[in-house]
Amino acid sequence: MNKPIDPALLQSAEAFADYAANTAARIDTGAEAEALAQGARVGISRPHESAHLHVAGEATYTDDLPELAGTLHCALGLSPVAAGRLEALDLDAIRAMPGVVDVIVADDIPGANDCGSIVHDDPLLCPVGPQDDGATGGEIRFLGQPLFAVIARTRTEARRAAARAKEAARVVPAEPVLTPQQAHARGQYVVPPMHLARSDKGVAVRAAIEAAPHRLKGELDVGGQEQFYLEGQISYAIPKEGGTMQVYCSTQHPTEMQHLVAHALHLHSNEVHIECRRMGGGFGGKESQSGLFACIAAVAANKLRRPVKLRPDRDDDFLITGRRHCFWYEYEVGFDDEGRILGAEISMVSRAGHSADLSGPVMTRALCHFDNAYWLPEVSMHGFSGRTNTQSNTAFRGFGGPQGAIAVEYVLDSIARQLDRDALDVRRANFYGKTERNVTPYGQVIRDNVIHELVGQLESSCDYRARRDAITAFNAKSPVLKRGLALTPIKFGISFNVPHFNQAGALVHVYTDGSILVNHGGTEMGQGLNTKVAQVVAHELGVEFERVRATATDTTKVANTSATAASTGADLNGKAAQDAARQIRQRLADFAARRHGGTADAVRFANGKVQVAGRELSFATLVAEAYTDRVQLWSDGFYSTPGLHWNSQTMQGHPFYYFAYGAAVSEVVVDTLTGEWKLLRADVLHDAGRSLNPAVDIGQVEGAFIQGMGWLTTEELVWHPGNGKLLTHAPSTYKIPTANDCPPVFNVRLFDGPNAEDSIHRSKAVGEPPLLLPFSVFFAIRDAVSAAGGHRADPPLRAPATSEAILRALTAVQAAPAAA
Ligand code: MTE
Ligand code: MOS
Repeated sequence: MNKPIDPALLQSAEAFADYAANTAARIDTGAEAEALAQGARVGISRPHESAHLHVAGEATYTDDLPELAGTLHCALGLSPVAAGRLEALDLDAIRAMPGVVDVIVADDIPGANDCGSIVHDDPLLCPVGPQDDGATGGEIRFLGQPLFAVIARTRTEARRAAARAKEAARVVPAEPVLTPQQAHARGQYVVPPMHLARSDKGVAVRAAIEAAPHRLKGELDVGGQEQFYLEGQISYAIPKEGGTMQVYCSTQHPTEMQHLVAHALHLHSNEVHIECRRMGGGFGGKESQSGLFACIAAVAANKLRRPVKLRPDRDDDFLITGRRHCFWYEYEVGFDDEGRILGAEISMVSRAGHSADLSGPVMTRALCHFDNAYWLPEVSMHGFSGRTNTQSNTAFRGFGGPQGAIAVEYVLDSIARQLDRDALDVRRANFYGKTERNVTPYGQVIRDNVIHELVGQLESSCDYRARRDAITAFNAKSPVLKRGLALTPIKFGISFNVPHFNQAGALVHVYTDGSILVNHGGTEMGQGLNTKVAQVVAHELGVEFERVRATATDTTKVANTSATAASTGADLNGKAAQDAARQIRQRLADFAARRHGGTADAVRFANGKVQVAGRELSFATLVAEAYTDRVQLWSDGFYSTPGLHWNSQTMQGHPFYYFAYGAAVSEVVVDTLTGEWKLLRADVLHDAGRSLNPAVDIGQVEGAFIQGMGWLTTEELVWHPGNGKLLTHAPSTYKIPTANDCPPVFNVRLFDGPNAEDSIHRSKAVGEPPLLLPFSVFFAIRDAVSAAGGHRADPPLRAPATSEAILRALTAVQAAPAAA
């Protein structure tokens, strides 16, 4: 930690400063400087609270904590087959390997052998031998499933020993079920199928489709996506006095880790302490799936009474943990001459993997986002979460929302081609209305629709129509290179679909020197949550940014927290911290009036100063005076989102507090000989309400755009069709985007307008919604492929649109017969 800073890192710090200055140039710094001078601390672009530590390599992640003496290291022995029974484990040879201290199997777990977050169907370690239910061996569910855990003196020794799993495991293999289609054909699901229909259980939809002037029927495949957090999964468990346990864990959900560890060890929640200072990215992958690592490290630490660290390497992380669900769709729609959808029916089948994990809620969100920004008068949707012999899929930025919305975009894109209309016109004809045509299929009335203004602004600022003409002209003269253009909108519901998750707590301490510490239930994964919450507290108490510090998330400080997920981190924890800060400010104001005269209402806090009865004191002076008067200088705070309800049986209700909107325009060029392509330009207008921190929000939009583009283009997951091994388990075979894939022209702006609801300072959640913006990249590629076939045929392009997939779609459209 105290090493001198590498000059190369200092250079990157400078590069970062340049970048930050550039971002600042794209936001209205004039207005911000003015607001800052007036005392505002929200709506101001601030660097991420740890940016200087990130770039200097000084930010502490779980693996950077100094290891306690006697720390042991854990590695997992993984199943070499995707399905079958585990008859026995011959562990003697492994126990005898250098450095090995112990090998832990399912029977060593004192409590529940389970880390399932909702359904308890997720074993930590595969049980061995005859089971209670009469089966002759534990059920192996996927290739990569942990069978045992090696504990050794060093990580390398643990990994070497664990790599002998293949020799140690006596298995009776079975035929794996790998694809959603296979699971669906067998009717095997991790949660019961779901149905969401606007009216009369979907009967009217068939009539609407059949009566429509035009019809369209098809299928679509959309691949999954690996979170690829830069910091992998990790837990460091430390046994404490009286059999209690502390775990440092890279997790989005410390409270759930606390519950899981308590269950695995047969402890009470008050005997387990989870802490997470920050994650090097989570993206949903550490919402439930950090549980396995926390539990196994804790079980080992508990058994051996020694600290145990478990940090799988990247390949094992890929083989063990789940990711974004791939989806397969079958749809049929009826529409009119303008391209307006009159009736739509769709089945969505996901690859859930071997256990339920979050697959049910992910499917719910997918069904609730098939409408995207569009009024669907008659609609019927069916969701099937297929049980497969693969890693258990989980949350990933958007949480099923992207998978739901891309299906309707695909349909609209095809409708436009069938009617020979510009896709933007067809999209617009289907937009939700402001005061009519404004009820979602799940019964929520949309009261905050800004999609018309937003798309109108973007259409003109990016010169959509002129560029469309230019592209048509270019394509007419260019036989090999074809250009494509697409504008896609988004509407994304904000709140957890489960109403009771929408609550948060915070703790604010004001110390006698006037410095302030804030702790809240959310976790920091790079998204800038701590920065925003600290800004909210500084704003409320009228102090300088530097005076407020946010600390590690800690289950002993704020209890019963929700996962930092569904983009709600700042909405929930910002409000809770505001509540705490307001209570302190009120006490300080009451005291100031008592001590210095005037009324409490007239006391003003701004810029680190307090105005009271015509006098000005520094904040620190007032705090010191209040302390000697025995005023409580710390407070808790709480928030719960109002007005939410959801019936999971009928799939109707008001699940979202509000919607976030956005739109993007992408222009690509495709090489029709190789299937290679380039994003030439992207323009984005995104609705973050009245942004708490425009610089951080623009960073979220840019990052989500590129991450979503990776999902839809280069990131392809391949399981061996015979043995079920995930073949793409490292960056050598799994291609995430890099800085080089950013378009040379990338205009990202925030839409100007407050949240219609009383969210924290009228801002909007920004973490996930922009992941849907690069739909425009995918449909621009589809447009370019279509151009190669003279727009005669609908390109059968699946996602990810890898060069191979593009070539296949090109072949199909070029083989299509010429127009009659
Ligand atoms: N940004 C960074 N840098 N790293 C992350 O892991 N996760 C995303 C998003 N942005 C993520 C991120 C996901 S999946 C969610 S749900 C939100 O951040 C969570 O944080 P928030 O609710 O505070 O926006
Ligand atoms: Mo985000 S997928 O809700 O963690």
